[in-house]
Amino acid sequence: MAHDRTSSMRSSWKIDKKHHIDEDMGFALPNPKEDLPHPYDAWIQIAKNLPRLIDDGQLRAEVEKLQELSIEGLQGHKSERLAHLALGYIVMAYVWNKGGEDVCKVLPHNIAIPYCKLSEKLGLPPILVYADCVLANWKKKDPSGPMTYNNMEILFSFPGGDCGKGFFLVSLLVETAAASAIKVIPTIFEAMKCRDLDSLQMALSDVASCLNQALQVFRQIYVYVDPGKFFNVLRIYLSGWKGNPQLPDGLIYEGVWDTPKKFAGGSAAQSSIFQCFDVLLGIQQRTGGESAEFLKEMRTYMPPAHQEFLHSLESSPSLREFVCSEGNANLQDAYNKCVNAMVSLRNYHLVVVDNYIVKPAREKSQQNQASKEPSEKENKGTGGTDIKTFLMDVKSTTAKHLL
Ligand code: HEM
Repeated sequence: MAHDRTSSMRSSWKIDKKHHIDEDMGFALPNPKEDLPHPYDAWIQIAKNLPRLIDDGQLRAEVEKLQELSIEGLQGHKSERLAHLALGYIVMAYVWNKGGEDVCKVLPHNIAIPYCKLSEKLGLPPILVYADCVLANWKKKDPSGPMTYNNMEILFSFPGGDCGKGFFLVSLLVETAAASAIKVIPTIFEAMKCRDLDSLQMALSDVASCLNQALQVFRQIYVYVDPGKFFNVLRIYLSGWKGNPQLPDGLIYEGVWDTPKKFAGGSAAQSSIFQCFDVLLGIQQRTGGESAEFLKEMRTYMPPAHQEFLHSLESSPSLREFVCSEGNANLQDAYNKCVNAMVSLRNYHLVVVDNYIVKPAREKSQQNQASKEPSEKENKGTGGTDIKTFLMDVKSTTAKHLL
């Protein structure tokens, strides 16, 4: 019964500082650092110039010249996040270089050793993750100005012009739009604890309107991200070495492990925001199913503080059970509005994926005329999923949670 569950609720459920969630920025890193002092500035120098170095054919030689640095001199979390971001960009560029067949299977020790040590310290995998390229890869042009696309810049770029800027910043702005809904979570638990149905209903309406706002922001993707550039250029630099036929055994991190290691590429599936509201609303993918397994795996690509937050949310009293047990039509309606907002986000995302991956893949294979169907690689997301099957499954499971 709801009463029994709520009586065991903690007196005031709150978002703890240890979860690294900012009032305004949510899971995004507030005001990321942009520079590192000597000797780490050598990493920043290369990461800042990737498109030119790749174009000139100089990138790999420049990386091989780098001194092997100890990570002990990196001062504080923001410096470590910046170093992980810069090294992540460098590693992706080193492996994929011009984006053709010339793929590098071995990451040299001078970069592999500090990168893996830093990754271990941050609890992140040694590959570019969403927490790097989206959550920690931004600045405001005018620091006192608003958090709008026109007043923002990314810190590092891949080849492909402004496509990366569009993809990373729109993702960030979706995150921050939905972040306002995170703030409401403590109110939800408080209202459940006190059985204050009016407050709960209002809090759920707030969550739904923040999620709807996030969808409006998502629509900017078409303004700022060119589908051709995304498909043919950026996607390659975000690709990982797990389930990727170009690196079937994974990548050798020289001086770190004796055998190659496999890691999934950067994907917004590593964002905590969707998973956060799935957990809150009790939206569960089929246990043991491939989609659930993939999303669970993606959690290990999130910063540990955010994984812990999701875990603490999971261990909290169930909002869905509370709503079911109250049998209040208005409350149920408010809950359904939240689930519907998640369905709309996922529906919209499916259309975006169709335009940015599925259609360009089909066009490419028709141009090559070798086969009518896109290759196995083209049909996969940067996170390595069979796109349509996975995303349709996640969306239809979400819709099944409407009461
Ligand atoms: C050009 C734009 C985008 C494309 C082409 C795209 C593509 C994909 C693909 C292919 C996947 C499947 C996992 C993988 O293998 O990578 C995925 C998953 C996902 N993407 Fe995107 N994505 C885009 C933008 C976004 C944005 C802006 C967000 C929101 C911040 C987002 C959130 C997610 C989430 C949460 C998942 C996991 C599945 C789910 O929970 O519904 N994506 N995306």
